Amino acid sequence: MSKPKRRLRSSAWFGGDGKNAFMHRSWMKNQGLPDHVFDGRPVIGICNTWSELTPCNAHLRGIAEHVKRGVYEAGGFPLEFPVMSLGESNMRPTAMLFRNLASMDVEESIRSNPIDGVILLAGCDKTTPALLMGAASANLPSIVVSGGPMLNGKFRGQDIGSGTHVWKFAEDVKAGRMAVSDFLSAEQGQSRSAGSCMTMGTASTMASMVEALGIGMPDNAAIPAVDARRGVLAHMAGRRIVELVNQDINISDILTKTAFENAIRVNGAIGGSTNAVLHLIAIARRVGVELNLDDWDRLGRGVPTIVDLMPSGRFLMEDFYYAGGLTTVMAALDDAGLLDRSAMTVSGRTVGDIIENAPNYNEEVIRPVGNPLTKEGGIAVLRGNLAPSGAVIKPSAATPDLMQHRGKAVVFENIEHYYERIDDPDLDIDATSVMVLKNCGPRGYPGMAEVGNMPLPAKLLKQGVSDMVRISDARMSGTAYGTVVLHVAPEAAAGGALALVRDGDIIELDVAGRRLELMVSDAELAKRRAEWQPPEPPQGGYQSLYVERVTQADAGCDFDFLVGRRDAGIPRHSH
Ligand code: FES
Ligand code: MG
Repeated sequence: MSKPKRRLRSSAWFGGDGKNAFMHRSWMKNQGLPDHVFDGRPVIGICNTWSELTPCNAHLRGIAEHVKRGVYEAGGFPLEFPVMSLGESNMRPTAMLFRNLASMDVEESIRSNPIDGVILLAGCDKTTPALLMGAASANLPSIVVSGGPMLNGKFRGQDIGSGTHVWKFAEDVKAGRMAVSDFLSAEQGQSRSAGSCMTMGTASTMASMVEALGIGMPDNAAIPAVDARRGVLAHMAGRRIVELVNQDINISDILTKTAFENAIRVNGAIGGSTNAVLHLIAIARRVGVELNLDDWDRLGRGVPTIVDLMPSGRFLMEDFYYAGGLTTVMAALDDAGLLDRSAMTVSGRTVGDIIENAPNYNEEVIRPVGNPLTKEGGIAVLRGNLAPSGAVIKPSAATPDLMQHRGKAVVFENIEHYYERIDDPDLDIDATSVMVLKNCGPRGYPGMAEVGNMPLPAKLLKQGVSDMVRISDARMSGTAYGTVVLHVAPEAAAGGALALVRDGDIIELDVAGRRLELMVSDAELAKRRAEWQPPEPPQGGYQSLYVERVTQADAGCDFDFLVGRRDAGIPRHSH
């Protein structure tokens, strides 16, 4: 058993024999806790986003039990606590609206309590960044344990992927290729075990980012939720967090610029979600690392996508784990000179140590760098008069022929306008049109919903059109695909040029040249700007705070007042 080397912050609560120590210990003892757990050993908070309303995280109380075993074994004292959970599939208008709110819950719960180190239990998309953002601002020793993906979806002998097949089957129904009864019977097969989406959507992407950043244990990304090895990982993380507290290694010692650079390259290699752009920028800025869109574009160049997973490819997370998982991918990047091996991880080993001799058990799932799924797998950052502060596109999910394109805009003022108009037989739209959606950004929606991958009009789907250029200030689900330009900044609701686009305007997209231009004269745009009316603000409550203080997509959509570290000094007494 390891001995604490110094007086820990929890001792300010549990140490001594005065009135305050009595109070802090006595009430805790109502849980059946003996004296000796208050002897100055590391107190490990287990920050849990368990919720039955977040199905992807509904098994996390079980994972917490494994963490506790490891913590006790290493001489620590584990205490599990809940924080706001964010479920992607249920929350409206979008779970992203609450990411910053949950991060505040995490930061303040850590700082206000007798905690020396923290295990962060996350799974569904927004839970991972919310926990990391809050923990980064509090800056204690921290390890993320992801809940793991669901087993592969199965439907009539075929593997189907979370989200990806919802979009696909819904299009098939719309195009008359699939019966509604078949569509409905796919529901149960898609989600057949505990865990998060088993495509390389945002949840799997963020679990991979956790591993690539070194803030999770090796294999954190891929072990299925119900595989016993997920329990082992949680157990070992429980042991390690006690060590990190004893060694005084804070989250800021792990989340360095180098760690983020490795993670961005890994995102390209896995064909990761565009949502990672926002989340990594927000996490970095919390911990005090300057990270911006140019870093994403620079570091992603020349990184091939080698993981053949849906939505970009064919396989699913279970296959990915059996093929070797993320260490295999990182080893391949290292061979190509695209990784910094020196980065330290919470496991106590460097990235270089972890990936040494990582085997590849299936070169169809994790392809060789020389035979990638896509040569340019990084996120491309576009600029131009339509997106002066930037916009992003995921080339690996796009159609090569559309990456250089000029077309006439078909404009939707908001998502309701889109639904009203899209299947109007008289809508003047063809395969070369550019679909433009406004007012779905951070302030506009509010919360920047995942509506950027607008389904194509039924009349074009029936003609066999499978992709079109789409542009918006929205996000898209990490499980979605298409030639979709997202995160346009500044957004329409903030008076960005996107707000000024009209039906019939010519838009030019040039991904190789990193350009996005609205071919309308400055004089005409100035005239339109003078006529522009900002949207009505929300009527009070959290949404008002959100709209007032949220930053634009290029800054990660954090609240301006949350950026940075506030560390975890010991607050004054409560009584
Ligand atoms: Fe929760 Fe996809 S909906 S991970
Ligand atoms: Mg999502």
